[in-house]
Amino acid sequence: MKILLLGSAGQVGSQLRTALAPLGEVVAADRASGWDLSDPATLAVRVEALAPAVIVNAAAYTAVDRAESEPALAHRVNAEAPAALATAAGRLGAWLVHYSTDYVFDGSGNRPWREDDPTGPLSVYGQSKLAGEQAIQSRHPRHLILRTSWVHGPQGGNFIRTMLRLAGERDSLSVVDDQVGAPTSAPLIAEVTAQALVRLQQTPELAGLYHLAAAGETSWCGLARHALAVARGRGASLRCGPEGVRAIPTTDYPTPARRPLNSRLDTHKLREAFGIHLPPWQDGVRETVEAIG
Ligand SMILES: NC(=O)c1ccc[n+]([C@@H]2O[C@H](COP(=O)([O-])OP(=O)(O)OC[C@H]3O[C@@H](n4cnc5c(N)ncnc54)[C@H](OP(=O)(O)O)[C@@H]3O)[C@@H](O)[C@H]2O)c1
Repeated sequence: MKILLLGSAGQVGSQLRTALAPLGEVVAADRASGWDLSDPATLAVRVEALAPAVIVNAAAYTAVDRAESEPALAHRVNAEAPAALATAAGRLGAWLVHYSTDYVFDGSGNRPWREDDPTGPLSVYGQSKLAGEQAIQSRHPRHLILRTSWVHGPQGGNFIRTMLRLAGERDSLSVVDDQVGAPTSAPLIAEVTAQALVRLQQTPELAGLYHLAAAGETSWCGLARHALAVARGRGASLRCGPEGVRAIPTTDYPTPARRPLNSRLDTHKLREAFGIHLPPWQDGVRETVEAIG
């Protein structure tokens, strides 16, 4: 089985390279090798020429704040390219795996969001990701869309890496405490993707949209404190430990893009459909801190 992996250099993409390897021949594609999602028409031609049985799209425009000033580019990469991929997948009869985000929701309430809850993105990024989901759903039924949250991992930039760096430089940190969600590790996302793909080959009626996040919940402040505690427990020399992290409200940390306060994702549907166990978010954070070193 030929699997085209787009975005293979990203946080999730780099983990998928190893997680998908046992399933077939993985063609790892990234921007550097000419697979550019900002040019959807050329992308579709390349995909059809390669003729994979599975397309896994881990590429995305993920610069949430920058998207506010580059809405056209964000829309092209996050909505028009997935639309082109869905059309190509339809022609090839291929499966299309795609990732989306908790930022499709408006963050109201405090109940975990279910897949069929009304969306209401607060940002250009969230709007573009929602448009990508909808483009795939309307074009090609053989899809798996995984909405995830607060991604971190051993490769690439992420919040944990930033906190560890800043804690080495400063005596205290102020971190938002009223946005709540589940930090989810890229290795977990990759592993679940591989397991789900195996099941989909046998049970294609499981195609659809699912929420994928680690179990439990915390705030960004809680995540920062936990990551620093793990790092200190491993002997890292930090100027700022967990006790030096000050909780602040979102209103004290203005950013170009608005973010949802409630980013909780209800994962019942995924766990029941695929029989998948989702570990507590602390497990993934420990692994990421250990990998970052
Ligand atoms: N990060 C999060 O917290 C988070 C949360 C929820 C959902 N998600 C979703 O999860 C998925 C994976 O995210 P991630 O954290 O792994 O993202 P990431 O680390 O930012 O990786 C995204 C990859 O997409 C590539 N890319 C960007 N624009 C491209 C273009 N025009 N053409 C080709 N490649 C392009 C990037 O390549 P370059 O390195 O060349 O820029 C990068 O390798 C995405 O769909 C994202 O929306 C992420």
